[in-house]
Amino acid sequence: MTYFAYKDGKLCAENVTFFEIAKRYKTPCYVYSKNAISSKYEEFASAFGSEKHLLCYAVKANSNISILKILARLGSGFDIVSGGELHRVIKAGGDPRKTVFSGVGKRVEEMEFALNNDIKCFNVESQSELYKLNETAKNIGKSAPVSLRVNPDVDAKTHPYISTGLKENKFGIAYEVAKSLYQEAAQMKNINLVGIDCHIGSQISDLRPFQDALKLLLDLIDDLKKAGIDLKHIDIGGGLGITYKDETPPTATEYVHAITNTVKQYNLEIIMEPGRSIVGNAGVLLTKVEYLNETPFRNFAIVDAAMNDLIRPSLYNSWHDIKNIEKGSKAKKVEYDIVGPVCETADFIGKKRSLCLSEGDLLAVFSVGAYGFSMASNYNSRPRPSEILVDNDQIQEIRKRESLDDLINGERLV
Ligand code: LLP
Repeated sequence: MTYFAYKDGKLCAENVTFFEIAKRYKTPCYVYSKNAISSKYEEFASAFGSEKHLLCYAVKANSNISILKILARLGSGFDIVSGGELHRVIKAGGDPRKTVFSGVGKRVEEMEFALNNDIKCFNVESQSELYKLNETAKNIGKSAPVSLRVNPDVDAKTHPYISTGLKENKFGIAYEVAKSLYQEAAQMKNINLVGIDCHIGSQISDLRPFQDALKLLLDLIDDLKKAGIDLKHIDIGGGLGITYKDETPPTATEYVHAITNTVKQYNLEIIMEPGRSIVGNAGVLLTKVEYLNETPFRNFAIVDAAMNDLIRPSLYNSWHDIKNIEKGSKAKKVEYDIVGPVCETADFIGKKRSLCLSEGDLLAVFSVGAYGFSMASNYNSRPRPSEILVDNDQIQEIRKRESLDDLINGERLV
């Protein structure tokens, strides 16, 4: 089921035309389909059947509190990587007791904040972090629930910037030393060992790396059991890819089944931290063509969205489909680079796209629900765009466009 489709030649988000959204909220803006998000979540959840599990949506993919609220209401837990993300989860009505805390650089204040809110688990990424967490928990009279994030050294075959499970990556504890660190942790008074964790990368379109990592983690679980350490859960992280262009990743159901089939004989709760696969294809960036600049060498369509709004193409050379929101343009088809107004050559949304464009046309940039707005910045002093949520024929602004005053909020003239 697709939630962004043309009806009578007009692109719609569910039952609302993009034309209507642009008229009401101007451009650029992010547009999300509520039902695209909830149906993806439901697909994951129902694939588990009666297996013990917890889906911890990775907040970093899209952290708008209205998006978190949709997922919280469906029963989702959350994967956070900062105190800021925990603040968002709480504001959205999410349950800290269903929240796991990942990340290599947790600060003491963040640990305290999470301990005081009784989160489900800290995914500890180094020996130093383990010591600091034990000490912090002791100082406030708490016991910290812990999983060690193990780096299984498997190649996720994804973009090097989003690969995290190789031994040269900064993430997690080397597989070879994990057992001895578990044994050390088991002796710590304010650490309560509850699980094991890994996250090997993102936008993974093949089941094999997940299965390889899972097997290594299960071997370690067996080994720990022999050493008297009994864990309650296994967290296999996020990472399932989506279709941007012609990728054919496994479905959520195939992915979940591949995991549950292997973990079945263990009496373990399975935690997953999907981000992109829940929200990635549920968002579109709506932007307006400001100028067409056809030069002897290249043709540029300069739009009102830029790398500060959507950095993925500049950062990873990632490809996002770009289409007119209305079919039947009379303009001639020309190959354009779709670029923004930011003063950087890397400021592009798409290159060499054959489109029929006129100045003033509105374009939809697809598959930006994950790592779109959440990576946006104010570079070039550009206010960040608004975010709009569509539910059937209802439109709601879930973040208003920033104003010029928002840009200097907190700055002081001295
Ligand atoms: N869990 C942990 C510990 C993570 O670091 C991540 C993502 C996830 C879960 C969710 O992974 P997902 O299911 O979304 O693949 N900005 C990049 C992606 C960075 C992913 C970082 N970690 C992009 O735009 O492609």
